[in-house]
Amino acid sequence: MMASLALSSLPTSTTTKKPLFSKTSSHVKPFHRFKVSCNAPADNNDKTVNNSDTPKLILPKTPLETQNVDRRNLLLGLGGLYGAANLTTIPSAFGIPIAAPDNISDCVAATSNLRNSKDAIRGLACCPPVLSTNKPMDYVLPSNPVIRVRPAAQKATADYIAKYQQAIQAMKDLPEDHPHSWKQQGKIHCAYCNGGYNQEQSGYPNLQLQIHNSWLFFPFHRWYLYFYEKILGKLINDPTFALPYWNWDNPTGMVIPAMFEQNSKTNSLFDPLRDAKHLPPSIFDVEYAGADTGATCIDQIAINLSSMYRQMVTNSTDTKRFFGGEFVAGNDPLASEFNVAGTVEAGVHTAAHRWVGNSRMANSEDMGNFYSAGYDPLFYVHHANVDRMWQIWKDIDKKTHKDPTSGDWLNASYVFYDENENLVRVYNRDCVDINRMGYDYERSAIPWIRSRPTAHAKGANVAAKSAGIVQKVEDIVFPLKLNKIVKVLVKRPATNRTKEEKEKANELLFVNGITFDAERFLKIDVFVNDVDDGIQTTAADSEFAGSFAQLPHNHGDKMFMRSGAAFGITELLEDIEAEGDDSVVVTLVPRTGCDEVTIGEIKIQLVPIV
Ligand code: C2O
Repeated sequence: MMASLALSSLPTSTTTKKPLFSKTSSHVKPFHRFKVSCNAPADNNDKTVNNSDTPKLILPKTPLETQNVDRRNLLLGLGGLYGAANLTTIPSAFGIPIAAPDNISDCVAATSNLRNSKDAIRGLACCPPVLSTNKPMDYVLPSNPVIRVRPAAQKATADYIAKYQQAIQAMKDLPEDHPHSWKQQGKIHCAYCNGGYNQEQSGYPNLQLQIHNSWLFFPFHRWYLYFYEKILGKLINDPTFALPYWNWDNPTGMVIPAMFEQNSKTNSLFDPLRDAKHLPPSIFDVEYAGADTGATCIDQIAINLSSMYRQMVTNSTDTKRFFGGEFVAGNDPLASEFNVAGTVEAGVHTAAHRWVGNSRMANSEDMGNFYSAGYDPLFYVHHANVDRMWQIWKDIDKKTHKDPTSGDWLNASYVFYDENENLVRVYNRDCVDINRMGYDYERSAIPWIRSRPTAHAKGANVAAKSAGIVQKVEDIVFPLKLNKIVKVLVKRPATNRTKEEKEKANELLFVNGITFDAERFLKIDVFVNDVDDGIQTTAADSEFAGSFAQLPHNHGDKMFMRSGAAFGITELLEDIEAEGDDSVVVTLVPRTGCDEVTIGEIKIQLVPIV
């Protein structure tokens, strides 16, 4: 899509934008297993967690590493503004794009049945203040923006941290009903997620607006952070101010950044509602399912990197897998088949929310529940890295990793107060280019790109050995209950595909019609040909196809929600040497919140690469 945009009305620059990920440097050794040492002495400040409480994580130097850690490279890469200004003529394909209401005073409180709503200590009245009854103006990106560079939180300097703390403090000092106040900013998330708005603007007043579990996830949160960052900059009079990002995809950033936990009494970034078990030096679990697994530091890092590989490479081979379902006006966010989260949203994004939120609170406040997540400053820093994943994903493969091009996506819009307290309407089409939006990310290595999982058991003929023992999928009566581990034999559409065939289509395993209680945290792990050899299979093993996870969020009076997931298994089958097998054994493991979950369909299909 980007390639076809005109370069006209923007200042040209002599430098070209440096991608967050460059292919040439990374594919040197695709199968190299990443080795980390959790206790080795520091030899390079850039590569260690510079907080004495946390384990020292040392990474070996690789071409990718050395290329990415140099700050000067980053600065040289700046200024490469490109993009297009004129996107107004994009036609709407079919359907009506989602639009937040013009009339923000129609917002309703998220009062309905949160599982423990009487204990919803952050309150469910999430509507924004109404400063005037004027219609929101269409927002126009500044044509010559001041560049804001978002630093990796673990590398941030003391000066930067002081400034950031000062900005958040200023937000907290504003009167509560000011649209820029810490509380109002936090409420935005609740309003857009917990039923504050409906689809009246598009003619469906009886349907709620929901920005999770679909292709609205990345753009909505990008705009949310955009204004939040500009507001903070304005509060401290520094238009170059940029939010940090929580670099959880790099071993040096896999703990809660120290700046959020130091000096709790005076630190505006501190939030008492975080899980005490997960403060530094506890290492984040990208596959977190509500309980600590006891994995060693080294194992946890390997699991995290391979899990990131599954989410960013294997399972997000195309636009739909990465962005999620194509949610348009008229779709019911509770029941529709459009209600499918992209790989990163369902994976590391949900895991971090749940891992940070305080599990002792009735609703895992703050981060563990959508209604309260916006009250933790760490939320925005977590989402900055989620946003960075969007950019990296596009940089990984410019040919097949593209933003949605449908008018229904490009013209979807949300309403925010900008940094000047103007009510503005923003469109997905204006947020596809971060340089045009005036920000960039400090480079940090992405070791997960080389963390392709390795097989537990190769060529184990699992399907053949399971014949007569494991039920065939065609003999199963759906919907299938997932209150215990489910194993099924699933036929493949083709065997021994050639390289050319693999380049034309991905083999995907679909788990469809997952029906679940929307107010519980849920996680299901999916394995292919997992053999019972007494060794636990984790995300670091090829047999792990991926997982499906959901944060609880209330949605009016219905409790059940329907969704689905897809897993790319082309590489997986290569790695376990099962390409010649005409069936595979699929194992669904209910990790948490599954006693009432049912599955509607399990199938394997070839999906053309476009
Ligand atoms: Cu709107 Cu991390 O969620």
